[in-house]
Amino acid sequence: MNFPATRMRRLRRTEALRSLVRETHLHPAALIQPLFLCPGVGIRREIASMPGVFNLSLDEAVKEAEAAASLGLGGLLLFGLPAEKDDQATGAWSSEGIVQQALRAFKSNRKLDPLALIADVCLCEYTTHGHCGVVSHDHAATTHSHEASYEIQNDPTLTLLAKTAVSLAAAGADIVAPSDMMDGRVEAIRQALDAAQLDQTPILSYAAKFASAFYGPFREAANSAPQFGDRRTYQMDGANLREALREIDQDIAESADMILMKPAMPYLDVIRAARDRYDIPLGAYQVSGEYAMLQAAFARGWLSPDRTILESLLSIRRAGADFIVTYFAQQAAKLIT
Ligand code: PBG
Repeated sequence: MNFPATRMRRLRRTEALRSLVRETHLHPAALIQPLFLCPGVGIRREIASMPGVFNLSLDEAVKEAEAAASLGLGGLLLFGLPAEKDDQATGAWSSEGIVQQALRAFKSNRKLDPLALIADVCLCEYTTHGHCGVVSHDHAATTHSHEASYEIQNDPTLTLLAKTAVSLAAAGADIVAPSDMMDGRVEAIRQALDAAQLDQTPILSYAAKFASAFYGPFREAANSAPQFGDRRTYQMDGANLREALREIDQDIAESADMILMKPAMPYLDVIRAARDRYDIPLGAYQVSGEYAMLQAAFARGWLSPDRTILESLLSIRRAGADFIVTYFAQQAAKLIT
């Protein structure tokens, strides 16, 4: 390249030229909106730390889903707030669970046909202790130890996760998405689905999910904060890129159909590395804390919403994500079209 013969600014002069050479695009069909379903009727309760995001009773959720469909979104990611919690996470796998009810209602509504209904598979919203797995307490734990006196039991959890996935798929989920980070859960879920004649239900695995402070507002939205300890014995250490690739290898070997990376903006390098290495469909989750910090800046007039929202999503697409789970899905779809 030699200046002045080469001038990079020639192709930036007009919007027509800029759009002709644009390398990355956002489409509503590649955006997925999370929904938080709660019991009751006529409930639309805003999450304090997530302006514009609500706990929705079924009737309200149907309206929200119809709006998502008419904007051309790709799908919904469903989370449930059960009426009651227990140690076995009954609300997660019961056929009368809140998400199972919603799936049946959504599936009988033709207006929602264009949406992929993705059911989160995890126990934390449904357990009294708020952990993503079965907990055993070690009462003999020494007070000298700085390590936890409880353990999230991997293999007993797999049984419950598999049961949950089967129940959600049977209720109509187009995709099941395990977010618990137990070892071996993709294989356990695949086997259980196949055994239940649900061999056509794909698994979207949260293959690389980091133990992140950016999930804070979600735990308010889903009422799923751990009552003791934290999730660092099962979610990944944010310092580890190579380990994230091993997690993905493992999930692909266990027959995951798609993978999800999470959080998104603080981990764009991980998304890029995964995109370069794997041909499997790959999504990223712009999580609650990413949403909350942008909303906080919008509320103060420190950032302008429209351009910032699109730029944040574009950064995730550019890093290599095929699709994005985002609380901005509807707002972004309106801006794109
Ligand atoms: C459940 C789950 C969490 C999120 C998605 N699924 C919370 C957590 O792991 O604590 C976070 C999503 C967000 O922050 O928007 N395991």
